[in-house]
Amino acid sequence: MKNILVTGANGQLGNEMQVLAHEYEQYTYFFTDVDTLDICDEQAVLNYVTEHQIDVIVNCAAYTAVDKAEDNKELCDKLNRVAPGYLAKAAQSRNASIIQVSTDYVFDGTNHIPYKEEEPTCPASVYGTTKLAGEQNVLEHCHNSVIIRTAWLYSIFGNNFVKTMIRLGQERDTLGVVFDQVGTPTYARDLARAIYAIINKGIVRGVYHFSDEGVCSWYDFTKAIHRLSGISCDVKPLHSEDFPAKAPRPHYSVLDKTKIKETFGIVIPHWEESLKECIKAMNN
Ligand SMILES: NC(=O)c1ccc[n+]([C@@H]2O[C@H](COP(=O)([O-])OP(=O)(O)OC[C@H]3O[C@@H](n4cnc5c(N)ncnc54)[C@H](OP(=O)(O)O)[C@@H]3O)[C@@H](O)[C@H]2O)c1
Repeated sequence: MKNILVTGANGQLGNEMQVLAHEYEQYTYFFTDVDTLDICDEQAVLNYVTEHQIDVIVNCAAYTAVDKAEDNKELCDKLNRVAPGYLAKAAQSRNASIIQVSTDYVFDGTNHIPYKEEEPTCPASVYGTTKLAGEQNVLEHCHNSVIIRTAWLYSIFGNNFVKTMIRLGQERDTLGVVFDQVGTPTYARDLARAIYAIINKGIVRGVYHFSDEGVCSWYDFTKAIHRLSGISCDVKPLHSEDFPAKAPRPHYSVLDKTKIKETFGIVIPHWEESLKECIKAMNN
């Protein structure tokens, strides 16, 4: 019987971890968010992990507002770099494990083939820089650590691209969306399932990439969202320079998932199949 602590449990991924917990009844769960466990409070983290005899920490808490992060460096750094170190140290203190979730933004997006885990990182934003430092902090302070870099996360919970495009598609007749940024959407439920697969199989220390299968641009993604939601809106392809954002985005951030699939025996659905599932779940 393992005790699993999930931090940031009210976010997209944290909520999906809660949804799937019912399928893994062999574990005892401690779902927390900032009101119950502030991961920036080192002593509180250590006390919690010790008192509840935690065996595995799944850190779903993060500063995820990519543009706002450019003006909020201190808070972003505390949450994405410093706090994962507190969690890692607390895990190490009782020989427990930690799964830290990271991002494709650790790369600058200049590749033309899918990114493998060992490729050189080069974050171009405050968010990406702090998330990369968080990865290093976790690996340094806890032996049994797994880093999962993911991308383009969406879910039935919280605010995300899918919900925004459904809303805008219903409000407007036309919409411009960038077509020169390419990656893979990831249903947070698929990532949550992969995390459970890792816990079931046992931690194998290292960095792993996870997204859904396939490749698309934000423009293609929007077209699929509208098609599957029955929305008729004229979506026009935009260049990134026509849609300036405070933080630079990687133009190409497709992740190579061979390592996570082979190590943990994970089968990953195509992004369009998962999008269909998510939209169905949103309508129920
Ligand atoms: N979203 C994406 O597209 C994306 C892409 C790649 C990687 N990722 C990574 O995937 C992971 C999960 O992302 P997500 O989209 O599920 O994030 P999310 O929805 O923003 O959830 C993060 C959660 O952490 C909570 N939190 C904030 N400060 C905290 C603190 N001090 N202590 C404890 N909890 C705190 C947040 O609460 P409040 O809402 O109250 O602040 C929120 O409930 C993150 O590591 C993120 O970097 C996300």
